Amino acid sequence: MRILVSGTNRMCHDRLRAQGHELVLFVPRGRAQREDAVGLYTHVVILDDSAGADLWADVAESLHRRTPFAAVAAYNEHTYPIVRAISERLDIPTTVDLDLFEKVLDKARMRAVLDEHELPSCRYGFARGRQAVLEAIEEIGLPCIVKPVDTEASVGVSHIDTAEDIEAALRRVGRHHIDRGVVVEEFLDGEEYSVEGISVGRDHRIVAVTRKFTDPDTFVSRGHVVPAPLAPEEHEAVTAYVTRVLDAFGFHDCPSHTEVMLTSRGPRIIEMHNRVAGDAIMDLVRLATEVDLYDLIARQSIGEDVGALLPDRIVPVRSAAVWYAAPSGPPTHTLAEVQGVEKVRELPYVDTVTLLREPGSPQPTVTQNFDRSGCVITVGDSPQQALTRAREATGMLSFVYTWSSRER
Ligand SMILES: Nc1ncnc2c1ncn2[C@@H]1O[C@H](COP(=O)(O)OP(=O)(O)OP(=O)(O)O)[C@@H](O)[C@H]1O
Ligand SMILES: [Mg+2]
Repeated sequence: MRILVSGTNRMCHDRLRAQGHELVLFVPRGRAQREDAVGLYTHVVILDDSAGADLWADVAESLHRRTPFAAVAAYNEHTYPIVRAISERLDIPTTVDLDLFEKVLDKARMRAVLDEHELPSCRYGFARGRQAVLEAIEEIGLPCIVKPVDTEASVGVSHIDTAEDIEAALRRVGRHHIDRGVVVEEFLDGEEYSVEGISVGRDHRIVAVTRKFTDPDTFVSRGHVVPAPLAPEEHEAVTAYVTRVLDAFGFHDCPSHTEVMLTSRGPRIIEMHNRVAGDAIMDLVRLATEVDLYDLIARQSIGEDVGALLPDRIVPVRSAAVWYAAPSGPPTHTLAEVQGVEKVRELPYVDTVTLLREPGSPQPTVTQNFDRSGCVITVGDSPQQALTRAREATGMLSFVYTWSSRER
């Protein structure tokens, strides 16, 4: 089949290509990569990030007129509106559901849907502008979380414990987000998990539960392990709750990544997505369960029924973990080199070492996931072993920074 694929999550593109399909890539400039130009795709179309869905649809229409596309697909939500516009203009199928996306993208709207369905959630308020945010904090009470209504990567997520923290927390959220709109939420205390699923039609198949570790101050994700070390009744509570939530939102024919806090009152949603997880979680799922969600999602996106490809009972065969290195410092520091990479790669239980910064780049002050410097994926006989290995292996990487002073 000739498929128009839009945006990133190129592992799904790899799978489609391996299945013998022809691919044309549409990618906004800000997400394009040098490697896109070679190999995988028949054509690559890059338009500026400011290009509207209509312009993309115009280009798609011209290509379609010469050689028709059988479907249009996307695996990352940034281009869902473009995919919908193309699907409508060309009258070709897509599994992207933009209405569902809009319900989950907006974290206030998501809480409203949970309330409508009387599903356990948390106290929350939406506020725009400084005064309204202060009033919402007063109403929700402390401790609370203030976060942008629809961003990702823990950008601007702030925790407020006492009244004295409010000013610093609002600075961290940032004026831009406060003016656009934030949600103020009751602080959910507990352990964090994510549930990776695929809805086959409206049958929600849970593939894995992941334990997530975040930095307590910045909420930057530091690590994940699959399977989550949960007692059977906790596992059941988390998966049953998420299944009810997926039903309430009307997930269908798509992947899901649902983040929950397991509190003393039971599981509570943090946020959810109609896309696969980031942060190498799909690799952990594949290593732990031998289910390749990228492959299934690629097939599903072009209309294949993937139900029969999923085992009835998914039982992890090993554990897999990822841990991120996140050295933080002033941007006057310059990355000279990363030591220990080869040594870590040679460890028998290390699956992958990924470096996220080029030598010569300034050191980030870590406030969001994009500021992390690298990660190591490991396997183990138990979640604890995989996790310890990932943390220790990441600790063996040395990020060497140099700095120069102008005052000599
Ligand atoms: N109400 C809450 N109570 C407790 N912790 C929270 C709450 N909301 C968010 N957090 C913490 O902040 C982290 C980031 O929040 P959230 O997932 O909503 O933001 P995000 O920008 O979409 O992050 P990411 O893309 O990293 O998952 C959560 O993983 C959790 O640790
Ligand atoms: Mg999140």
